[in-house]
Amino acid sequence: MKSDEFLGKDLVLESKDIQAGSVEWKSPSNIAIVKYWGKYGRQLPRNPSISGTLTAAHTITKLSWQARQQRSDTTGVDLEFLFDGKPAPAFKARIASFLEQLKPQFPFLSQLSLQVDSSNSFPHSSGIASSASALSALSLCLCSLEDRLFGTLSDDDEFERKASYISRLGSGSAARSIFGYWSIWGKSGEWPQSSDTFAVPLKSHVHDMFMNMKDAILIVSKKEKSVSSSAGHQLMDENPYASARYHQAQNRIISLLHILSRGDWEEFARLAESEALGLHGLMMCSSPSYILMEPDTIKLIHMIRSWREDEGLPVCFTLDAGPNLHVLYPQKHAKKIEERIAADCTPYCQDGQIIFDELGPGPVEL
Ligand code: DP6
Repeated sequence: MKSDEFLGKDLVLESKDIQAGSVEWKSPSNIAIVKYWGKYGRQLPRNPSISGTLTAAHTITKLSWQARQQRSDTTGVDLEFLFDGKPAPAFKARIASFLEQLKPQFPFLSQLSLQVDSSNSFPHSSGIASSASALSALSLCLCSLEDRLFGTLSDDDEFERKASYISRLGSGSAARSIFGYWSIWGKSGEWPQSSDTFAVPLKSHVHDMFMNMKDAILIVSKKEKSVSSSAGHQLMDENPYASARYHQAQNRIISLLHILSRGDWEEFARLAESEALGLHGLMMCSSPSYILMEPDTIKLIHMIRSWREDEGLPVCFTLDAGPNLHVLYPQKHAKKIEERIAADCTPYCQDGQIIFDELGPGPVEL
């Protein structure tokens, strides 16, 4: 690895050498089983997390650039931002401040006029967290841009590590979306290559049953969350259970690594559900306390548990920081479980919306 912080002070060009161009990446969202909840410093996690990278829920981002005409030392980055082809000022402000803080890694950004065109495969207000897919797609574009201009990221591993590092600075969970299937972000003694500053893939470690796991996302509510993830992370600083939680997460990483390699569905279900409910428990006992689950989230939780406990279906759930339920099941049982989901869960979903997703190979350059 060239540097721990992927600094790039030599990455500046003579203006006459700047060729206009564009790059485009498709990058998926991910679903954490051991959750990242609590951070410090510059986007460093209080505990390691493990997630599976999805397929259907993704962002496509195109980054176009040309040499900047006006003086570059007086203003911030020169950015035009379009979401679904239209200007989106709130997103633009977040992306501009993200790009601004990346100047130590990408000093050439001051020399360029940038245009970012982004769109999601899922409706923007569907309640699905889009920061993981959006920030990973943009970070991949920035690393491709660096490689186009300087040829410095031709090594695939180095490229992915830097893309994951940059993604993390934008949104912690985005660091994991750089890799297909399963990845770990945050230092765990059990996985020597793991790091707090970028994610690494679990690759050949994982049993086939979990490689192609399915995830049906039940959109219980599309409403914007009353407390954002960033605010939620912050509330962990004063949470009375925080240190027990971080300790528990470290242990659960060890358990989950064993479960994933053994292909132990029952233990997986127990751990995934306990993590999800534990996450929401932490929210409920934060100060101020808050609840992101809706009554229909609880109804669906009971339904899914009864499919498993009373009918023996290999199915379980997890939750992100929101009311929507991710129903997880092995691909082998998809037909039966998906029929059941469509018939029984649809009435509890806003506008009947369910996204049938699955783990996949991760981002692709278009
Ligand atoms: C509950 O990655 O959205 O989904 O770093 O502030 O952008 P920021 O937070 P974010 O938090 C995700 C929290 C989670 C759990 C997880 O994905 O690990």
